[in-house]
Amino acid sequence: MNRVEVATAHPYQVLIGSRAVEGLVGLVAGRRVAVVCPQPLLGLVDRLRLDDPILIEVPDAEAAKTPQVLVNAWQDLAEAGMTRGDIIVGLGGGATTDLAGFLAATWMRGVDVIQIPTTVLAMADAAIGGKTGINIPAGKNLVGAFHEPTAVLCDTDLLTSLPIREVRSGLAEIVKCGFINDPVILDVVEGQDVLDVTSQAFVEVLTRAVEVKAGVVSDDLHERISSHGRVGRERLNYGHTLAHAVEAHEHFTWRHGEADAVGMVFAAELSRRYLGLSDEVVARTRAILSGIGLPITFDEVEWADLRETMNLDKKTRLDPETGRRILRFVGISKPGEVAMIVDPNEDVLVECYERLQD
Ligand code: GLY
Repeated sequence: MNRVEVATAHPYQVLIGSRAVEGLVGLVAGRRVAVVCPQPLLGLVDRLRLDDPILIEVPDAEAAKTPQVLVNAWQDLAEAGMTRGDIIVGLGGGATTDLAGFLAATWMRGVDVIQIPTTVLAMADAAIGGKTGINIPAGKNLVGAFHEPTAVLCDTDLLTSLPIREVRSGLAEIVKCGFINDPVILDVVEGQDVLDVTSQAFVEVLTRAVEVKAGVVSDDLHERISSHGRVGRERLNYGHTLAHAVEAHEHFTWRHGEADAVGMVFAAELSRRYLGLSDEVVARTRAILSGIGLPITFDEVEWADLRETMNLDKKTRLDPETGRRILRFVGISKPGEVAMIVDPNEDVLVECYERLQD
């Protein structure tokens, strides 16, 4: 079993490997447990070996992250007499862990939560770092809180029935960690079969990605320290500026990691022009992502439409004098070295987008 410490003000451990869920019983001893779980995964609850858990069944995937689901869950906790000393467990993909985390953040002004992610994406990203929240009609994740888990159990046995498209999508986030912080991930992905979630190679790259995320959130939990050449938690958004726009225009029919993949190719092209990223690394970006079956081209939407959507990106800043929105992209000068690209030239952006149509 691999262990990674997230060294924030309230440190916690991420356990990674086969049978990681077996650690849960010891972590919750003597406390009541409410398990938040989507209907298709209810069969996994038995594996947690809990005595008489309170079961909070929620809709699958993003449909869980609504105000009404949250209200129902609060009601369930109230009816079960859940106290401040009890604990919530989030068992599911990133949407479930986001909801479970927000439920824990808000119940009696905050109770403990342990996250048990069941997708590669949630293991490498969503379940770690304390971002929790729900969606409202005005936008995704507009209501939320930072509420860190007391432990995260990444049990790779839970991944064996995951569709291959989901595995690929999660690997995009792992590859992203390779480009922003830990280039060894790229070497492993190039040299070994990481699509096999039971393999040593997969556990290694997942653990390395968790180490990257743990290090980044330990330094900048609240995403506040990007200045004077230092890039904090924002660095986790490498490739995401274009990716979020692609997801929105594809009405969320693309997996997050698929959109990230084309976003990373775009970010690499931009980094070549602004940060001197070598042609070799740009080509390597395409080779690695397509090698694990992720898309590296995109031409389904007019640039002007994507560009407008990117104005709404979280990293965008308003110029106080002109009222103009200034785009900010995460870029790399080489694998492991991140810098922000602020207010890039509009013609260069178009040129980079055209490179996605090759
Ligand atoms: N998923 C990006 C972050 O946790 O900051």
